[in-house]
Amino acid sequence: MTYSELSTAFAHRFGEAPALVLRAPGRINLIGEHTDYNDGLVLPAAIDKEIRFALRLNGSDRIRLVALDFDATYEVTVADLAPLPGGHWANYQLGVVAGLLKRGAQVPGFDCAFGGDIPSGAGLSSSAAAECGVAWGLNNLLDLKLDTMTLAQLSQTAEHEYAKVMCGLMDQFASLFGRAGHVVELDCRSLEYAYFPFDTSASRLVLCNSGVKHALADTGYNTRREECAAGVAILQKYDPAIKSLRDATLPAIEAAKAELGEVIEKRCRYVVEENQRVRDLTARLAEHQSLTEVGELLYASHAGLRDLYQVSCKELDALVELSRQAPGCYGARMMGGGFGGCTLNLVDTGRVKEFLAYMKQGYHDQLGRELETYVTNLADGVGEYLGD
Ligand code: GLA
Repeated sequence: MTYSELSTAFAHRFGEAPALVLRAPGRINLIGEHTDYNDGLVLPAAIDKEIRFALRLNGSDRIRLVALDFDATYEVTVADLAPLPGGHWANYQLGVVAGLLKRGAQVPGFDCAFGGDIPSGAGLSSSAAAECGVAWGLNNLLDLKLDTMTLAQLSQTAEHEYAKVMCGLMDQFASLFGRAGHVVELDCRSLEYAYFPFDTSASRLVLCNSGVKHALADTGYNTRREECAAGVAILQKYDPAIKSLRDATLPAIEAAKAELGEVIEKRCRYVVEENQRVRDLTARLAEHQSLTEVGELLYASHAGLRDLYQVSCKELDALVELSRQAPGCYGARMMGGGFGGCTLNLVDTGRVKEFLAYMKQGYHDQLGRELETYVTNLADGVGEYLGD
C-alpha cells in the first residue's frame, strides 16, 4: 500500500485527506522466546514489513475504522467502547483507545484507514503493529506527550484486555523501538535496552513461513503463562527471593523437582536456559564471535521450545531440520509464540539464494506445501510515513 494509495483510499472513504500518515513495523526475534512475560531478556528487531495508517480527527464522537486489506469497516462511539467477540480485527485499535481513556486522555472521534504487508498468524506481530500504530498516531494527533515506553505498555494492555492474549512486552517494544540495521536487547524487568548492529554483509536473517497459521488466543500461549506462574509459586516456597522465572536457577529447579512435576519443571528449565542463551548471544554479538556459535544458540533455542516448552509443531520442526543441510545456514529456530508461523534462519549473505531454493524444494518434498520466505531488513520503529 503506497502513500498515495492509502491517502486516496482514505479520502475516498472519509471525504477528506488524512492529517497524519504513519507506518508501524512487524518484528522478528533473534533469541529470547517466551522470556518476556517471565521478566527476562529478549533480542528482537523491527522489520521492513509494516502496517500503514492514515488518520484524522473527525469532529464527532465516532471512531470509524477501515481495514483496507480485507475491505472491512467498523464504527463505534467513544463512549460505547468494549471488546468485540470472536477475535474481531478492530479489537487492537479499540483496545488502544480504551487504554488512552483509562489514562485520563480525552479521545474524540477519529477516522482511520490502514493496510499493510505483515502476514497475519505468521508470528511477525501484525497485532502489535496494529496497536502501536494507533497508539503513536493518537499520541501525536492529540499531542498527549506520552513517552514511547508508555505507548508500548498501553498497546500490550490492549492485547490483554481486548484481544485476550496475555502477551509480554516484546512485540510492542520492538515495533516502537526498532532501529534500522540493529537488533535490540530488552530487559523486560528493568526495561533497560541496548542496540546491537547486525552486519548484513556477513549474514542475513531469513524467515521461512510454515504456512501454519496460529491465533495465540486459541493456543497454549495463555496456558504457558499460567504454567510459569505455577512454577514460580512453588519455587518461592524454597527460595522467597524468586519473584519470577528470571530469578530461578537450574539448581533451584532441581531442588523443587518433585513438587514441580514433570511439565512445570520443563517449562521452568526452558525459561532459565533461554535467558542464558540471550546473554550468550549478545556477548557474542558484542565480541563479533563466529556465526557458527550464534547459529548453535538458535538450534539450542529451538530444541528447548520443541522439547521443554512444547510450543513447536511438525512443520516448524521439519523446517529447522531441513535448515541443517541447507547451503549457508548457520542456525535456525521457530520464532514468536509458536504453534505455527515462521522459522528464523541465520544465513550466509552470499548463499541466500541457494538456501531459499533448497528450503522451498525440501519443504515441498516433505510436506507437500509451498514455502513462503522473506529475507528481512531490520527497520526503524513506528514513525511518520512521508512516502517512499
Ligand atoms: C508472542 C507474544 C510475545 C512473546 C512471544 C514469545 O509474540 O506476543 O509477548 O511472549 O510470543 O516469545
